[in-house]
Amino acid sequence: MVQISRRQVLVGAAGLATFSDIGLQKTFAADGFLELTARTAKVRLSGASGPESDLIGYDGQVPGPTLRFTQGQIARVRFRNELDVPSTIHWHGIRLENAMDGVPGLTQQAVQPGSSFDYEFTPPDAGTFWYHAHVDSWNQVARGLFGALIIDEVQPAFDPEDDHVLVLTDWKLTAEGVFDSESLGNVFSWSGAGRIGNFLTVNGVEGPEIAVATGAAQRLRLINTSTARVLKLKLTGVEAKIIARDGQPLAAPQDLRGSLKLGPAQRVDLMAEFPPDSAAELKEVSWQDIVLVHFTPSLTSVPRPAPALAAADLPVPDLTKVRWFPLRMTGGNLGSLEEGAKVATMAGDMAMHGDEPVLWAFNNVSRMGDEPMFQVASGETVGLRMENTTFVDHAIHIHGHDFRQVPQDDSETPDETWFDTILIGSREVLQVAFVAGKPGKWMIHCHMLEHSVSGMDTWFRVV
Ligand code: C2O
Ligand code: CU
Repeated sequence: MVQISRRQVLVGAAGLATFSDIGLQKTFAADGFLELTARTAKVRLSGASGPESDLIGYDGQVPGPTLRFTQGQIARVRFRNELDVPSTIHWHGIRLENAMDGVPGLTQQAVQPGSSFDYEFTPPDAGTFWYHAHVDSWNQVARGLFGALIIDEVQPAFDPEDDHVLVLTDWKLTAEGVFDSESLGNVFSWSGAGRIGNFLTVNGVEGPEIAVATGAAQRLRLINTSTARVLKLKLTGVEAKIIARDGQPLAAPQDLRGSLKLGPAQRVDLMAEFPPDSAAELKEVSWQDIVLVHFTPSLTSVPRPAPALAAADLPVPDLTKVRWFPLRMTGGNLGSLEEGAKVATMAGDMAMHGDEPVLWAFNNVSRMGDEPMFQVASGETVGLRMENTTFVDHAIHIHGHDFRQVPQDDSETPDETWFDTILIGSREVLQVAFVAGKPGKWMIHCHMLEHSVSGMDTWFRVV
């Protein structure tokens, strides 16, 4: 059985060949499993006439195919590993059963070369998510093992032609324009801000043109799949509203003013109505303006009212009953680990860690051990008091849960935005709370993947 994405059909029918979202054909096995194969891929990152890079990709594509499932309906993916190294898939941001979370040594055994693993879960939330390798992710994600994961509302909020997936990726290329694999294990970057690249792509292409329908609100789903780069984004030539963060709709859309920081693994959904003559662009503005996307308002469409997303349906932390735990970040090149810092080891984790350097710690422990950082009961409200004593930012991700910030001063009104990954600046303190969800072993780590491999990994148990 072959399913062709609705977008591909529409774009094909409209005859517009600029650049569309990643519309792809997916095959399903007879038992209803969608098959996804990790294998090597030759990709021309620096343009159609540029040199080929040796990457790895799902179905040999970078990014991998955009997977779309429906909220509340079972999703089945058969992952085949045709690489010569073990791998797994993590479904970032999905509140799924722990056994499907894809963490080697913690929730499953790594999938060996030539083997496969069946992932099966029912996504409870509609929104913008992504999937990526979780074995040596600093290496495998950097080389291309990631893709967008869209969970559609049962009645999709936006028409397919109004719904755009933008996978934003930072690459490090050599002067020749090929993937710089030499820089992958560079300890200097591991102990600093992470491996920051020098080339940005959207859906695998530099500065693509994306056709947007005029007369109807467009949904732009931005996903930062970079291993370390915090994107500072600006949309010019059009006004936009933020309608969701990390997949979860905001209670009320917020105007997008100025620039927006999007940390590694974070997502933001924007809604914008493009005027017919607009020359709107999405830019990265950290150092100099880099045009990420040129929007071409070339599809005319029947005017449609702007849809509203259904409210996020998540258990709300009870701030009168929080069990607080510290998450103190230390290490890096300038901070250095404190005396007494330990390196934890885990039986199943041993295979995953070789002799990579240990540079960072949570609560003075580097890496994950057999014992959790804490244990809570499902339904309990958990608070994490994060303290970043280091000289760089971190992007802290909690698996299987969405959390909110808790003001440090009771007089502040709490921000009701949900996150699964949050940026914490150097020397910053940040408090978050969430309701412990499904039972199992859930990871907490820095999504600057070079920090994760060199120590910023831990886990907690929900019983
Ligand atoms: Cu997207 Cu454990 O990560
Ligand atoms: Cu970090």
